[in-house]
Amino acid sequence: MNETINTMRAHRSIRTYTNDPIPQAHIDEAMLAGQAAATSSSVQPYCVLHITDGDKRQKIANLCGPQQKVHDCAAFFIICGDLRKHMLILERANKPYETGLEAFLVASIDASLFAQNFVLAFESLGYGTCYIGGLRNDLPAVDKLLGLPKGVMPFYGLCVGVPDESPTHRPRLAPDSVLYENQYPSDDETNASIDRYDKVYEQYLVDRGAKPATWSQAIAKKFSYAAREGLGAYFESKGADLH
Ligand SMILES: Cc1cc2nc3c(=O)[nH]c(=O)nc-3n(C[C@H](O)[C@H](O)[C@H](O)COP(=O)(O)O)c2cc1C
Repeated sequence: MNETINTMRAHRSIRTYTNDPIPQAHIDEAMLAGQAAATSSSVQPYCVLHITDGDKRQKIANLCGPQQKVHDCAAFFIICGDLRKHMLILERANKPYETGLEAFLVASIDASLFAQNFVLAFESLGYGTCYIGGLRNDLPAVDKLLGLPKGVMPFYGLCVGVPDESPTHRPRLAPDSVLYENQYPSDDETNASIDRYDKVYEQYLVDRGAKPATWSQAIAKKFSYAAREGLGAYFESKGADLH
């Protein structure tokens, strides 16, 4: 189609990397590309921590699961919501910081728009990436390790490096199970689309030599118990209003 779309469609999460470093110029380019993403009313409520300290990196890798790739990848970033700058501006204006849930939502939305542009820029330069939601296993511990001020709250990590594996493409739902015209389909239609995807997903696992399971089985396993229950309390302790 074109190079941009080819890069997007070539995405696979990469979990094994060579020892090659990433030149600072590439990080600088990826930052500019990330920051070029749209941001609600220009509020730019995010920041990125580049963790270069090996000891900190290992401690974070342990907190993430452990996930050793967090330590071993060429560059590891933490994508954060950043309400700190806004809080300081309101403080300097001698006004209360009154935002409700909206500011938190905007921070998570805009940080993720940044992050995906950042990722695509790295991928276009030939790097592999892997988002790390495992960072949310113990956010208070990550926060303490990094000494984050009020208003700055990690959402997820990001590993970047030269790929040392070429995994197969993980199939997605069919586009017509995601793109709907004017209205959401009936539950019968939705259930039928889930059944269709279950077969594709299970075949993908069989082809990879992994333990076969349908997407429904994976989702039922993931969402049948509460996960990371302390997140609300942590974000509120950082000054987010979740109401
Ligand atoms: C926000 C987010 C968090 C993720 N967290 C992890 C993680 O902690 N560890 C990991 O190995 N992969 C993680 N992934 C990668 C997903 O497992 C992966 O994107 C998904 O299985 C689809 O595979 P693909 O990216 O290769 O297409 C995460 C992805 C996202 C978007």
